[in-house]
Amino acid sequence: MSYAKPPVLQGTAKSDYENYVRTDELLSLQKGPDEWEHRDELLFAVVHQSSELWLKLATSEVIETIAQLKGNNLREAHRLLSRAVLCILQTHSALDMLEKMSPWDYQQVRRALGHGSGFDSPGFNGLRKAVPQLGKEFHRLLGEEKLSLLDLFLNDRKYEDLYQLAEWLLELDERIGLWRQRHFKVVERSIGMKVQGTQGTPVEILAKLNFFSFFPELWDIRTEITNYALSEE
Ligand code: HEM
Repeated sequence: MSYAKPPVLQGTAKSDYENYVRTDELLSLQKGPDEWEHRDELLFAVVHQSSELWLKLATSEVIETIAQLKGNNLREAHRLLSRAVLCILQTHSALDMLEKMSPWDYQQVRRALGHGSGFDSPGFNGLRKAVPQLGKEFHRLLGEEKLSLLDLFLNDRKYEDLYQLAEWLLELDERIGLWRQRHFKVVERSIGMKVQGTQGTPVEILAKLNFFSFFPELWDIRTEITNYALSEE
């Protein structure tokens, strides 16, 4: 006796799992052994494609957060931002895998990449475009309460929802920044520092981006709080 139920979803696969996840299409998105310059192309493709998916989800959660903030739904925004942060964490650990590829093997993989560059990553560019709008909504909400950032941080429990929003924004900023720093080390370990990337960008440019922040004011407020505390002594 078989307990297997026949597929009911649209699609040509033999099960609804495969129809829904679209495994046929998904698993044919990587080159096969007969097309490889080097067998590590599979590792390279899986890390990049999975990272693009996590970044796609992160961007989608950030865009929905902006909509929720426009409707003043701060709790829902916290929930969505916690997801976006977890997406970024997934891309952190995916980077570890690339360090299991030797620098010489990467040079063989690199031959297959043409002028492909991470600067053209749709996932990362989606985040780059959406995240600043979070800051715009945060400052609107702050303005509506007639609060300065310092007021908010000195009265964090009174304005708990707004304070938590500030902390989630900082968390997202920190995790994206840590991804950049981690990626920079992976690049250094794979191809070195005093060279150019596949699009001719000097790798040293990436070092400068390590200091970029979406919300510098949320970092600077820490200094302001310390100075305020010292002035009170
Ligand atoms: C061995 C692995 C990797 C190497 C050697 C590498 C190399 C580089 C280099 C040299 C650049 C500077 C621009 C250029 O010339 O292309 C760059 C930028 C970038 N790469 Fe990678 N990369 C690797 C893995 C990844 C992965 C897994 C992702 C995931 C999406 C990624 C995303 C990016 C992004 C988003 C940028 C722009 C950085 C920014 O705006 O801060 N890279 N990469």
